[in-house]
Amino acid sequence: MSRDNPGESVAWVTGASSGIGRAVAIELASRGYIVAVTARRADDLNALAADSERIFSFPGDIGDRAKMAAIVSEIEADHGPIALAFLNAGVYFPAERDRFEAGLVWRTFEVNVGGTVNCLDPVLAAMEPRGSGQIAITSSLAGYGGIPGSLAYGSTKAALIAMAEALKLTYQPLGLTIQVVNPGFVRTEMTAHNDFFEMPFIIDADAAAKRICDGFAGKGFEITFPRRLAYLFKAACLLPYALFFPLMARATQRARR
Ligand SMILES: NC(=O)c1ccc[n+]([C@@H]2O[C@H](COP(=O)([O-])OP(=O)(O)OC[C@H]3O[C@@H](n4cnc5c(N)ncnc54)[C@H](OP(=O)(O)O)[C@@H]3O)[C@@H](O)[C@H]2O)c1
Repeated sequence: MSRDNPGESVAWVTGASSGIGRAVAIELASRGYIVAVTARRADDLNALAADSERIFSFPGDIGDRAKMAAIVSEIEADHGPIALAFLNAGVYFPAERDRFEAGLVWRTFEVNVGGTVNCLDPVLAAMEPRGSGQIAITSSLAGYGGIPGSLAYGSTKAALIAMAEALKLTYQPLGLTIQVVNPGFVRTEMTAHNDFFEMPFIIDADAAAKRICDGFAGKGFEITFPRRLAYLFKAACLLPYALFFPLMARATQRARR
């Protein structure tokens, strides 16, 4: 099967009721995939599925491990083997920008890390014996290094980058493709809550979806955009802490609204 013509390959997209996940589901369907979509808001998923004969609704909370295993089984029984899993669902609670709060930190870890783990488990179990399959995990540029106001969110995203790197090293020799998606700012429900920082180079979810789906086809490990912001942040994170902290404090202070 050619990279540009996936034919009837099956994709599973989590966090597809809005924002990046929804836009990626639509873009994948337009590129020929059969797309199974998951999130908690069943009505939004059903509306998305009603608009496309290639999109199918599988509502569920990624925090529910048994449910994620059941969904993967159902998708494969109904549509065939999952060729691409885009594990994208995630949360950011704006209250974390004000202070450390244990409950909020745990809740962010439960969804962003625990929920992704709950999805990885059945997907890896299905793909490993086949010796093929593609898994992309949505992290964020916020996972590159510490940012004020992002102490829970950024930590979960750093954990996901490290997990994706380890997964690649472990599963690539077994035939699987592992990718990490590190977007900059994208206009979605999540960023609509951000009245704290300026969001340089922000793009629409549809444009982000095209970049992400091109990245799926390219199969490189990291899918990141906009490159200018990503490379600047990555370079800053290589600096010694004596330089990194004042630089980051100044940059984020300037970006404050
Ligand atoms: N927007 C940005 O600038 C940006 C930048 C970097 C990374 N990201 C990452 O991109 C991903 C998508 O975010 P977005 O910007 O598109 O925001 P969004 O519009 O708020 O989408 C988040 C999605 O995650 C789903 N979700 C949240 N908790 C869930 C749960 N427990 N179980 C199942 N689904 C759940 C939501 O659906 P339900 O509420 O229906 O469950 C929704 O579909 C996230 O991982 C986010 O961290 C976003």
